[in-house]
Amino acid sequence: MHRAAELERQGRKIVHMEVGEPDFSTAQPVVNAAKNALDRGLTQYTAAPGIPELRESLALQYRDWYGVNVDKDQILITPGASGGLMLLANLLVSVGDGILISDPAYPCVRNFIHLMSAEPQLVPVGIAQNFQPNLQQLESYIQSNTTGLWLASPSNPTGTIMERSRLEQVCNWARGKNLHVLVDEIYHGLHYVDDMPSVLEVDQSCFVVNSFSKYFGMTGWRLGWIVVPEPYVEKANVLAQNLYISAPSIAQYAALAAFTDEARIIFEQRREAFRKRRDYLTAALNELGLELSDNIQGAFYIYANISRFSQDSEKFCSDLLENYGVAITPGSDFGEYKSNEFVRIAFTTGLENLQLGIERLKSALT
Ligand SMILES: Cc1ncc(COP(=O)(O)O)c(C=O)c1O
Repeated sequence: MHRAAELERQGRKIVHMEVGEPDFSTAQPVVNAAKNALDRGLTQYTAAPGIPELRESLALQYRDWYGVNVDKDQILITPGASGGLMLLANLLVSVGDGILISDPAYPCVRNFIHLMSAEPQLVPVGIAQNFQPNLQQLESYIQSNTTGLWLASPSNPTGTIMERSRLEQVCNWARGKNLHVLVDEIYHGLHYVDDMPSVLEVDQSCFVVNSFSKYFGMTGWRLGWIVVPEPYVEKANVLAQNLYISAPSIAQYAALAAFTDEARIIFEQRREAFRKRRDYLTAALNELGLELSDNIQGAFYIYANISRFSQDSEKFCSDLLENYGVAITPGSDFGEYKSNEFVRIAFTTGLENLQLGIERLKSALT
């Protein structure tokens, strides 16, 4: 990103396919609600787990979207999913614990586990498993110190989801092994498949991380949430008070407007735009001979195998940027497993730009 910005300053037109956030700015109803909250002077700390109205709106959303009953007390508003992951790491992970995570995965997850002086136990996932771990793998990667399993569905960087049957199998298995299960559901809403289950539909003893960043288009507002099982509520509240006092107040009042019909229409239009981009890009990349999962059902990422063209994804990305003005992300940002053979391509820019990116990629590869 740094080099892309430098090249832009020199006057080059760069096609950005590396950015991990929606290119749409925050929806107007949310912006208006924020202005209103500012005018009303709602600028103080809130209660540590967040304002009750927002927690209630989320509880209703769990009922509407997934048909699950979550008590609003189980929902804590956090400073982004990042704040939620930090809290849950403190809540669930002790020194020396092993936590099973996918390789590749969102890189901060590994770092949160390291911060607790615990051990990320990487489960290599490839195209054959849709980049999501399966039972046989979990069986072979669990160790004597393993205490938890952290998943993400849809996943960053792969855009693949864990379908209901596998989620059920994996949760049953984890329960049998006495492991806690945490699922990062931050890309829910930005999914392009009918059945996008929350882990809470399958097992209410699991932990969920989510956020207003992606579907709701509020990355800079720093607002997310977690859902914790009832026995953990009190300790989670104490951690919230100590770690960050509360999530940003204006962002919380603004987010109330995210549950209005007016806002929902905008979010759904944006989801449709992402779906069209996904359709275009998967077809175009397949045509160029890059190997992809055929199950990219969420988020705004494609994790593409470039091994036909290069065995060094960092050099591939760097050459593509320098010589063709296209910015994408090397697999090494997300893990170790075959990371030299993969790149992450984000469709967080409009169709026209994506078409230009594909033209340039075609020139680079032929
Ligand atoms: C899988 C995943 N989890 C968590 C985050 C953090 O999101 P935020 O803190 O903006 O809610 C991201 C950001 O890209 C992500 O991709």
